[in-house]
Amino acid sequence: MRDSLRQLLLSRWTKLVLFLLCLSPVGYVFWRAYQSNLTANPVEFVQHFTGDWTLRFLLITLSITPLRKLLNLPDLIRFRRMCGLFAFFYVCLHLLTYLWPDQNFDFAGMWKDVSKRPFITVGFLGFILLIPLALTSTKGWIRRLGGKRWQALHRLIYVTALCGVVHYYWLVKSDHRLPLFYGAILALLLLYRLSVSILKPRPAVTVSPPR
Ligand code: HEM
Repeated sequence: MRDSLRQLLLSRWTKLVLFLLCLSPVGYVFWRAYQSNLTANPVEFVQHFTGDWTLRFLLITLSITPLRKLLNLPDLIRFRRMCGLFAFFYVCLHLLTYLWPDQNFDFAGMWKDVSKRPFITVGFLGFILLIPLALTSTKGWIRRLGGKRWQALHRLIYVTALCGVVHYYWLVKSDHRLPLFYGAILALLLLYRLSVSILKPRPAVTVSPPR
């Protein structure tokens, strides 16, 4: 059973299926657009949809390390980079829905918004912090930075996810249940991370390069 699960995780096809699954939310939007079914406010629909998927992918990426340890499935690491890059992909689409139909590519107007509206400020910070993570996600960058520095840099993903949760919490006017739900998941993941590093000081840092 365990061996076949390992084989499944190591298969190239599993990676391809996961890639298509990660892309399926985009397919869903195109399908709804094709059916002229993007609600009365298509821009708002796509903006919210891509924002939701950014946050989900951030949390999925952060769940991979705890899951591989708790389920004793080290090969799950193969999927972490892809999930993280999809978080970046969805935040780029999210930003685009803001820059294009909302701001008409008026960067000065966007900057005003970023500096005046706290929920935009914190969302923008989350986006900026994701850029170095996406750029340094390759094997070459792990080698260049060294495992320890690379890991330290990539811990920024927790800050990005926190920015995402705060951004969501601040923009919601009445029903805060969903942002609080995402916040609770993030808190659990952070607690896990903290307890691991407090209880088990690691002698050497090894980073598994993306496969
Ligand atoms: C890591 C970065 C980010 C995450 C995780 C994120 C996540 C989200 C989420 C979950 C929503 C609400 C979706 C819903 O209501 O279903 C949202 C809405 C929104 N986000 Fe982001 N976002 C991020 C970055 C940004 C950036 C950089 C901008 C623009 C500069 C931005 C602008 C907006 C706007 C304008 C809305 C809609 C607000 C409204 O309708 O009142 N977000 N975002």
